[in-house]
Amino acid sequence: MSLESFNIGYRSAETYETMLPPHFYGGVEDVDIVAGIMRDVYGPHVPGAAGLRILDLGCGPGRVTEVLAPYASDLHGTDKSEGMVRQFAATFPGAKATVGDTESVVAALLGSGHAGTYDVVGSFWSMSYPLLECFEETGADGVFVVGERDAGVQRAERIVDGLTRLLGENGNLVMMFFDASSAEQQLVTSLWERVAPFPGTGRDYTWRLLEEGLQGAERKGRGSLTTSRLSGVAVAADAAAARDWFLIGHLNSFPDLINDPEVVAEIDEFAARHTGADGRVFIPSGVHVVHFRAGKGPADHLPSAAE
Ligand SMILES: C[S@@+](CC[C@H](N)C(=O)[O-])C[C@H]1O[C@@H](n2cnc3c(N)ncnc32)[C@H](O)[C@@H]1O
Repeated sequence: MSLESFNIGYRSAETYETMLPPHFYGGVEDVDIVAGIMRDVYGPHVPGAAGLRILDLGCGPGRVTEVLAPYASDLHGTDKSEGMVRQFAATFPGAKATVGDTESVVAALLGSGHAGTYDVVGSFWSMSYPLLECFEETGADGVFVVGERDAGVQRAERIVDGLTRLLGENGNLVMMFFDASSAEQQLVTSLWERVAPFPGTGRDYTWRLLEEGLQGAERKGRGSLTTSRLSGVAVAADAAAARDWFLIGHLNSFPDLINDPEVVAEIDEFAARHTGADGRVFIPSGVHVVHFRAGKGPADHLPSAAE
């Protein structure tokens, strides 16, 4: 693959949707986990009863937005990739669709009177990118450190702080964030480390920044944070699909990696170890599910009073 194909899995919605294997956690697909949270908080969706202001940051083609949209009277999807936003806009013609990186989008929304205005802010498998970009930028020709580490930490903290400031009264921030400790991500990490080390504590650094930032917001009395780490599986149809998922989805078609026979051999060996009798590849996956409820405090965790 060539320089032009760098990051094609995220520039092209079609490539993304073709290569993305379904992810299941405890028998539930990732999208349905989000649907379940929406049901728990707002009840089953009643047609015509939509009324929430919903923002999906890093929305991609709108794969997860599908389960948020029925609840929305005001839907806004944002993504850095023009190709993704084009697909999002085609799927949700009534929604606002913005091309922009999450750091700038959050700052622009806060700067234009949108603090405290969203009922739901979602970000699914997308928040690690803007947080990592506070420390480094990756292009087809390499990974480049941007600025001092402390400045990067401040930028990341501002993003996370902004997420909770966008929430209105009783608003909900719902996220899915990759778990760096899964076998899948350990392989991805070791492959990327051939190019450059990760900042801070390593590949889990962006998760730590997010979690610490949201814990800080809880300490300030802005809301209540619940996180759970779920173990699961990404199911690739066969070894070739597993290879594509790693090369395009995880290694972003980065030429020096995907054209390296040792890298491809490591991926193929990993896939072979996780191949079932039917030829499908069961890639061990992990996800952090994040739910920050604005305005909730310690007393909200008491059981409901008995009748
Ligand atoms: C793994 S996809 C997830 C898409 C969608 N939320 C889903 O669950 O299918 C990650 C998305 O993040 C977007 N992205 C990457 N860096 C970004 C950034 N700095 N700001 C906004 N979006 C970004 C990519 O374009 C891509 O659409």
